[in-house]
Amino acid sequence: MAELIDGKAIAAEMRQEIAADTQALIKQGVTPGLAVVLVGEDPASRVYVSMKEKACAAAGIFSDEYKLSAETGEVELLELITELNADEKIDGILVQLPLPEHIDEAKVLEAISPDKDVDGFHPYNVGRLVTGNPLFQPCTPYGIMKMLEHTGVDLKGKEVVVVGRSNIVGKPVALMCLAEHATVTICHSRTQDLAKKIAAADVVIAAVGRPEMIKGSWIKPGAVVIDVGVNRVGDKKLVGDVEFEAACENAAAVTPVPGGVGPMTITMLLYNTLVSAKRRAKKTLRF
Ligand code: GUN
Repeated sequence: MAELIDGKAIAAEMRQEIAADTQALIKQGVTPGLAVVLVGEDPASRVYVSMKEKACAAAGIFSDEYKLSAETGEVELLELITELNADEKIDGILVQLPLPEHIDEAKVLEAISPDKDVDGFHPYNVGRLVTGNPLFQPCTPYGIMKMLEHTGVDLKGKEVVVVGRSNIVGKPVALMCLAEHATVTICHSRTQDLAKKIAAADVVIAAVGRPEMIKGSWIKPGAVVIDVGVNRVGDKKLVGDVEFEAACENAAAVTPVPGGVGPMTITMLLYNTLVSAKRRAKKTLRF
């Protein structure tokens, strides 16, 4: 039977350290601040945004929420970002994605100062990740790396198969594994003979957003499985991108859904905001 990688416990431990560091920084006169911008009424986004606010409060980080109507124009949103870029109380700016259709997402992400880009989505920060000199790294993949580290997985020379090629998870996590000297294969929903690719993997990172698409029988005995998928099936049940029970038969360690990768994402957002505030305290800004 596989070991469960308890994201909730790892996140709780990290959040305690973040809260302690935050208190120390506040004593020096710098309170970390995060601005969260939500455009529209997407129910899932609302839930995430309120979770982010609560997590900030618990860690002692100041947070300010901007809830804009779904009809908000691009110019108005860009103006708000310009204001937040100049606001000295704000160390991190997070614009919740997805944005409404009429707003150009790339334009908005590029408007955020790279010094405050705690989501790590600005092309400047993406470029620094690609070149192996990261500043802010995207929260979900960064959280995955922390979980692997915590579980004692050494990626050097290992075969890592990433399933999914999104800008938020698949592409950045592949780069992070490469930086740890893994041999990385990026697969996706159109990859031929995915079973064969998975069967060769020492570490599988599934972020494809399709319920139980990766069969447990494909997993190599002793492999580590990180499941980023959160798929609602039926009325209530949440399942990952990997068949959990069957994967447990083969894998050495698996993340559950929920309680695996999920709690790490917001933890890394708090972490990045704290790092940004520490940079402000040292005044090492302008990238
Ligand atoms: N939507 C889904 N995941 C994310 C994330 O990590 N950050 C932001 N800003 N929006 C998201």
